[in-house]
Amino acid sequence: MAGPRQQRAVIRKPAESFEDALQHMEVADDDRGLETKTLGPQEVLLNVKACCINYPDLLQTTNGYQHKQTFPYTPGLEVSGEVVRVGEGVKVDELKPGSQVMIMCGGQGLATQLIVDAKQCVAMPPNMSFAEAAAFRIGYETAWHCLFERGNIHSDDVVLVTGATGGMGLAAVQVAKKVFGCTVIAAGGSDEKLAEVQRVGGADHIVNYNTDPQFSKTVKSLTGGNGVSLYFDTVGGEIFQQGLRSTAFAARVLIVGFTSGERPKIPANYVLIKCLAVFGCRAGEVLQRLPDAANAIAGPRRTRLNQYAERGWLKPHVSHKFPLTTEGVRGAYKALMDRQVVGRVCVICDETSSASSAKL
Ligand SMILES: NC(=O)c1ccc[n+]([C@@H]2O[C@H](COP(=O)([O-])OP(=O)(O)OC[C@H]3O[C@@H](n4cnc5c(N)ncnc54)[C@H](OP(=O)(O)O)[C@@H]3O)[C@@H](O)[C@H]2O)c1
Repeated sequence: MAGPRQQRAVIRKPAESFEDALQHMEVADDDRGLETKTLGPQEVLLNVKACCINYPDLLQTTNGYQHKQTFPYTPGLEVSGEVVRVGEGVKVDELKPGSQVMIMCGGQGLATQLIVDAKQCVAMPPNMSFAEAAAFRIGYETAWHCLFERGNIHSDDVVLVTGATGGMGLAAVQVAKKVFGCTVIAAGGSDEKLAEVQRVGGADHIVNYNTDPQFSKTVKSLTGGNGVSLYFDTVGGEIFQQGLRSTAFAARVLIVGFTSGERPKIPANYVLIKCLAVFGCRAGEVLQRLPDAANAIAGPRRTRLNQYAERGWLKPHVSHKFPLTTEGVRGAYKALMDRQVVGRVCVICDETSSASSAKL
């Protein structure tokens, strides 16, 4: 008897713009035969349940991300799913058929099936849906790396997050507020989206940088004239300049991303006079370039984040879900490029009625 139909998204060729990229993506039958492929000793075959579309997925469609894909390719940097079978070297007390896992796969995730290394699999917190689990690791591991491992966050900090309505920003708001109990100022581009960030992230104050472009004055007045002690930025451009002006003496500044498309310049005299510490934060790069440190850091980081998730302190917000169809995938990318998303957007890859379907 034929098994379920296997499908995957394919992006055929590089696009001139994000808008053009929509025409180059489609969902097609997956003829790679993963279902019957012999697995290597440490490999795991998964039924993918949900795939999160991240900002770097958008950048890859125009070849604008530092990690390039070779066209045509199947996108999808992080997923959740259920284990179907494991290679002979995988310890079955850790991973076995039916185990529910979340994976940063680095690509290929926007499909009904995926083969990964067992080391890439992290157990899903039981209180998370598959969509939430697909949206957990990149956002929260990066936020943790930036705020805790680089920024040395502590409970007395007053934290400003720009791009707080996005996946990375909302994760940072939750980590700062719900794990460390900091005072958090969330800055974003729409009142509606910011209200959602306040509801699900617990931000103390919100600032709309579209209606309040000189928002450093607002931040200064919210902080009794002092400014913020820790600044997390995913936007760059003019918004970063206002964020920089919002900092207190001896603040730490975390450079995370540039969704505005503009890499900001930082005046060295400003850094000197204010005694600022500026940190470049590359969560994934650190794990690759410093493997010894990575081994010591990555395990405890994941254990802590899973514990906080199980307590309900950390919970990805998935504002949009789409099916794994050509229209659905284009809809997911378009929602992200049009800045409609609050937190994350996911594609649901498997809606079949397994025991776990209630958790989508
Ligand atoms: N450092 C690392 O290790 C690391 C890891 C992963 C990702 N990143 C980077 O972090 C950045 C944020 O990623 P993300 O996943 O949070 O993205 P996202 O979910 O798309 O959120 C980005 C936010 O940026 C704001 N924004 C301001 N100007 C924008 C513009 N011109 N176009 C699009 N958005 C704009 C949007 O909020 P408003 O609409 O409210 O303004 C949006 O919610 C990206 O640059 C990504 O490459 C860094």
